[in-house]
Amino acid sequence: MEKKTINAKKAVMIGCGFVGSASVFALMQSGLFTEIVLIDADKAKAEGEAMDISHGIPFASPMKIYAGDYDDVADAGIIIVSAGAGQKPGETRLDLVNKNVGIFKSIIPEIAKRNFAGILLIVANPVDILTQVAIKLSGLPENRVIGSGTVLDTARLRYMLGEHLSVDSRSVHAFIVGEHGDSEVVTWSSANVSGVPLSTMCEMRGHFKHKENTEEIAESVKNSAYEIINKKHATYYGIAMSVKRICEAIMRDEKSILPVSHMIHGACDIDGICLSMPAIVGADGIETAIPVNLDAEETAKLKESADALKQIIDTINL
Ligand SMILES: NC(=O)c1ccc[n+]([C@@H]2O[C@H](COP(=O)([O-])OP(=O)(O)OC[C@H]3O[C@@H](n4cnc5c(N)ncnc54)[C@H](O)[C@@H]3O)[C@@H](O)[C@H]2O)c1
Repeated sequence: MEKKTINAKKAVMIGCGFVGSASVFALMQSGLFTEIVLIDADKAKAEGEAMDISHGIPFASPMKIYAGDYDDVADAGIIIVSAGAGQKPGETRLDLVNKNVGIFKSIIPEIAKRNFAGILLIVANPVDILTQVAIKLSGLPENRVIGSGTVLDTARLRYMLGEHLSVDSRSVHAFIVGEHGDSEVVTWSSANVSGVPLSTMCEMRGHFKHKENTEEIAESVKNSAYEIINKKHATYYGIAMSVKRICEAIMRDEKSILPVSHMIHGACDIDGICLSMPAIVGADGIETAIPVNLDAEETAKLKESADALKQIIDTINL
């Protein structure tokens, strides 16, 4: 079969609400793409966002940003899907399942029809479930369908630990794995600050109540979205930077290790479920999963997280 040509520097954002437009704004500034197409069920919204974001181009680098339709996805390097309802105050991410699976049933077949040869990045929630739904509906190889997963939760964790320890959050190495949601798991047992075990670093910085402090930080990370949604009705800047980071790893073939959501085969006895585990991410999407060191309690929690997702997946009729 003739190899399909793709325009690797072309991205498509499907869904131009808070998350989609903030992500395009971050991508416009990144210089990673020469073309970004905005698609939304509300075409005027896509056009307005494209105009507004384009007016920043003279302060970034030359590129085209415009509202388009599904014929524009055919040769794209990356398609990002943020279309879908967001959480309302009091709603969990899993509450969004039926609404957003319905929306995906109208979007993903449009992509599949056009023989898309790039990477599909899912951001809409519940992101793990929708990543799995997107793999099934698109027929794409599993390595080319990625969910933003716990990239954002991990950033929140690193930020909060950085603040707690008064160190640069980029020097904090710790992952959140599992569901992007209430059953997520912090990998405390392997957390470190530039190679120094976390508990040693905490004591160096005058913190000795490890159990209380770690529980408090894990809760704050998990509840961040609820807190932000209560205060401003949506979250979008943190996820926009996470989307930019994942796109960087793909566009530059960085082979960066990121906790993205992807189809798990065998790690910690989990099979056939999409959730976040660290993986090498590059031009072909997921290159390989990286086994993360977990203690017995973390392993048990990760399995619970996978079970919670499996229960939902089993109820979806595709
Ligand atoms: N993965 C993460 O870490 C993360 C973080 C924040 C938000 N989210 C999720 O991102 C999604 C979007 O959130 P938001 O705040 O931007 O919501 P929003 O309501 O502001 O935007 C959603 C957009 O999707 C569009 N849309 C709906 N159905 C569509 C369809 N069939 N085709 C094309 N466009 C369609 C709407 O017109 C709207 O513009 C939600 O599911 C939210 O939970 C994920």
